[in-house]
Amino acid sequence: MSKDTKNNHVMPVYSRYDVVLESGHGSWAVDVKGREYIDFVSGIAVNCLGHSAPALVKTITEQAQKLIHVSNLYWTEPQIELADRLAEYSGLDQVFFSNSGTESNETALKIARRYGKARGGDEKCQIICMKESFHGRSMGALSVTGQEKYRAPFRPLIGEIYDAEFNNLESVKALINKNTCAVILEPVQGESGIVPAEKDFLEGLRKLCDEFDALLIFDEVQCGMGRSGKLFAYQQLGVMPDVATTAKALGGGFPIGATMASDKAAEFFVPGDHGCTFGGNPLACACGNTILDEYFNNGVLDNVNEMSAYLFEKLNGLKDKYDEILEIRGMGLLIGVQMAEGKKAPLISKAIENGLLLAGAGHETVRFLPPLNVTADVIDEALNRFEKSLNEIR
Ligand SMILES: Cc1ncc(COP(=O)(O)O)c(C=O)c1O
Repeated sequence: MSKDTKNNHVMPVYSRYDVVLESGHGSWAVDVKGREYIDFVSGIAVNCLGHSAPALVKTITEQAQKLIHVSNLYWTEPQIELADRLAEYSGLDQVFFSNSGTESNETALKIARRYGKARGGDEKCQIICMKESFHGRSMGALSVTGQEKYRAPFRPLIGEIYDAEFNNLESVKALINKNTCAVILEPVQGESGIVPAEKDFLEGLRKLCDEFDALLIFDEVQCGMGRSGKLFAYQQLGVMPDVATTAKALGGGFPIGATMASDKAAEFFVPGDHGCTFGGNPLACACGNTILDEYFNNGVLDNVNEMSAYLFEKLNGLKDKYDEILEIRGMGLLIGVQMAEGKKAPLISKAIENGLLLAGAGHETVRFLPPLNVTADVIDEALNRFEKSLNEIR
């Protein structure tokens, strides 16, 4: 069997860097040639405890020896425990488990359509999303992703979707009406370049949704699960949603998604309306419980806040020094470095050569997504490699 990166049978829907990773430990990833990289991509905001975190390896090993999967025809204790904990920490009431961010958003959209139909009949089906958003690749999640480059190849999309401008309440006011069943947005837009929502904007949305009996849905797939410095970014911004979605870091690398809803939002979501064969299996939920233990009992959330301040300060120092860096923005350890036109791609490639993995985002943004338990000395070394790369692309 070939292990050739150029000539193989993997469907070519991704543009990949020519790196074959084989192992990892903490903030470090190692390729098949034995080269070590500081991994500040973290599997795109997934590996919150870094690679091969001992606590997660222990949980996976022990749980796999007991029970991996049973379907949702039966109960398992890890699922009940994780749902109870997510409800408690999110301030919402009910949790539906799936396997990915896309599915968690798809669930949220179905909750919204179900709610709308019950509260206002077939016409109450309109959903407002934001330009520059990203919510996933299924036809539903794609339809509320406000970026033409993703939508165009797959039109026609699901109907009754309206695009507002992020951080522009007037644009939402112009669209919302009695037939709106939901407004969906990321509290920090991730894929389009790490843009946090303004508190006033979210407060305004909360009021509008209440006024028009529409559900406020926060997609916390990227910005949630501790990356913002609180478990959910909306807790930093002080506005409660009716529905919140999460995935990525929830399993620390093991696939799991969750949709959390208030009793009011999920009132009409009844047996038969939704399901997911793998969703909430005991192995995935055991991972989720371990991640929450590490966050709250082993200081990971505190570390996010400490390391965030440190990394922002250092990156702002580089911004003062290099004209190529236009802005540093974000929240917690979800940080976007806005580069000058044409600099993002060469910088990321150069950083790989210098042993640092960074992810791109829209509009010339370079994303820093270190593991949430990253240490100051790893940040220092990453920034040395980053600055070297910056100098080499000038
Ligand atoms: C905000 C947001 N929502 C949804 C998704 C889709 O998640 P997944 O790739 O797990 O389906 C992503 C993925 O990057 C995301 O960043």
